[in-house]
Amino acid sequence: MLTDSEKKSIVPMLQEVPLFSSLDKKALNNIANSAGKKTYKSGITIAKEGEKAVSFYLILDGAVEVHHGREVLAKLGKGQFFGEMALFDDQPRSADVIAVDDTTCIILTSWALAGVIAANPKMAQSIIKELVRRLRETDRALTE
Ligand code: CMP
Repeated sequence: MLTDSEKKSIVPMLQEVPLFSSLDKKALNNIANSAGKKTYKSGITIAKEGEKAVSFYLILDGAVEVHHGREVLAKLGKGQFFGEMALFDDQPRSADVIAVDDTTCIILTSWALAGVIAANPKMAQSIIKELVRRLRETDRALTE
């Protein structure tokens, strides 16, 4: 959980995130109220393929790489998110996500994310669009 002053400072950062562009101030405040924040040192594995999971991550600063075996599927940076797949289908993590810089993330639990999505269909559309893009990208990477 964030302190009151952290919550205040995070709302303007959330406003800059494309995924949250359709959300009003009240919705962003709700997210800040239920979010955590953590900084991972470069080299740390944040999400591990095969593990059960309850967290969704939004990158506030830094960068991560998504690894599936020896394949690097993607590099994600500020304003991008990861960890959504295992939460949506309640299956283990599909890939390793490794910090490649010191990386600060906002962390939402699966139930907090479900609440935000239920109240904001436009945001759900944005996540679905990105999921489909990732699926195509993974297919492409693994069949090359
Ligand atoms: P999840 O399966 O929960 O944990 C690993 C995460 O890596 C996954 O959610 C996605 O957020 C992310 N991921 C998997 N494949 C890709 C991809 N092709 N492009 C970007 N991110 C991905």
